[in-house]
Amino acid sequence: MKPQDESRPNIVLVGFMGTGKTSIGKRLAMQLRMHYVDTDDIIERDSGRRISDIFSEDGEETFRELESEAVRKASKLDNYVISTGGGVVLRESNMTELRRNGIIFCLTATPEEIYRRVRHQSHRPLLQTPDPLTKIKTMLEDRHAYYVKADYMVETTGRSFGEVMAYIKRVFKKC
Ligand code: S3P
Repeated sequence: MKPQDESRPNIVLVGFMGTGKTSIGKRLAMQLRMHYVDTDDIIERDSGRRISDIFSEDGEETFRELESEAVRKASKLDNYVISTGGGVVLRESNMTELRRNGIIFCLTATPEEIYRRVRHQSHRPLLQTPDPLTKIKTMLEDRHAYYVKADYMVETTGRSFGEVMAYIKRVFKKC
């Protein structure tokens, strides 16, 4: 379906793994008749490799370079919901790019809720550890200062997709 207004800025979703960026992003794009893109998908498409293979074969730093390249591409778009990988916030330059033409929403959830959501998934290299819950807690603490740089924080624990989307849509309409 053709988007209604090509000049609208992007909705950018950042946040820790398992906070619902993909699920909420796709639904938002559909409801608002916007396009949808995920920076992890751009990386996989452009490199022809899976994220987990990039991590295991070339390491995290190479992945972060590819991620910044994907962010630069996504930031040039208009009228998109852009879902990002959980570590995109770690580079200030990524946030600057994304903010140029986007409102940045950070989805949050408690460590226990994140663990509940991701525990049966195996595609996230950073959570492939014997004690994922402890790793989630540590990473959330380490990244807290980066996530709060988003324009809006959106708690998802105990909230339905509909409630989270209603909040984002309300804020976005006023921007
Ligand atoms: C990462 C999150 C992942 C993916 C990569 C690294 C992170 O994306 O980019 O595994 O550093 O938090 P999701 O947040 O979509 O799982």
